Amino acid sequence: MNLILIGPPGAGKGTQAKNIVEKYGIAHISTGDMFRETAASGSEVGKKLQSFMSAGKLVPDDVVIEVVKNRLAKADCVKGFLLDGFPRTDPQAQALDLMLAAGKQKIDAVLCLKIDDSEIVRRLSSRRVCPSCGGSFNLVSQPPKVDGICDFCAAKIVQRADDNEQTIRQRLQVYHQQTSPLIAYYTKRGILNSVDGSRAVNEVFKDLCAFIPTAGH
Ligand code: AP5
Repeated sequence: MNLILIGPPGAGKGTQAKNIVEKYGIAHISTGDMFRETAASGSEVGKKLQSFMSAGKLVPDDVVIEVVKNRLAKADCVKGFLLDGFPRTDPQAQALDLMLAAGKQKIDAVLCLKIDDSEIVRRLSSRRVCPSCGGSFNLVSQPPKVDGICDFCAAKIVQRADDNEQTIRQRLQVYHQQTSPLIAYYTKRGILNSVDGSRAVNEVFKDLCAFIPTAGH
């Protein structure tokens, strides 16, 4: 089972992706996580990636496509995968079609999280992440047990470099201009399923699962 999770920044893609891959036993492919990992290494490539992310801009298509192509070739993708944050542009969607066709594969469902811009700014301004284990928190909806400390590894949690209001608004603009047209792209194919992402995490998850082809298992 191969899935795409699409939605604006802060819609809850990472939160829902974690639950979906756990339930269905498929690989989680988050381009954002992969880029942040490379950026944390401090390499020249990492510094370049960080400059795009901190500015709220997209990483160039050729770089992203190469990274995803290599990731999809890994053994854990044989049992299926969830793409979180890819594709984000028309060229990325077309490149994905070619990659999958070459392996006689297809996307079974595209899950789209819908949420207002105002709620996104609120959510992302209060998100905190753990630089050590990747844990994600929200000062409003999912605070850590001890103020400022990761529940999972006790490291100090921080704000992501792109989670300030100015960069959040830039990311939203990029989403509306370059990524949201993909909703029509996948609607035409009859595989787009939209869910109201503004509700509680477990309610959103339940609705997403109803659209996953093997949800009955
Ligand atoms: P990426 O990491 O993919 O960022 P994003 O799309 O902006 O999404 P986020 O990670 O910010 O949010 P999310 O939707 O995962 O929400 P989350 O679950 O964390 O990409 C980062 C950057 O990398 C891009 O800007 C770009 O530069 C680059 N990049 C990545 N992919 C690329 C590509 N394909 N092409 C080019 N460039 C690319 O939730 C957010 C917060 O809300 C959390 O605090 C969470 O606890 C809370 N929350 C979640 N769900 C709920 C709920 N139901 N109710 C209340 N609170 C909730």
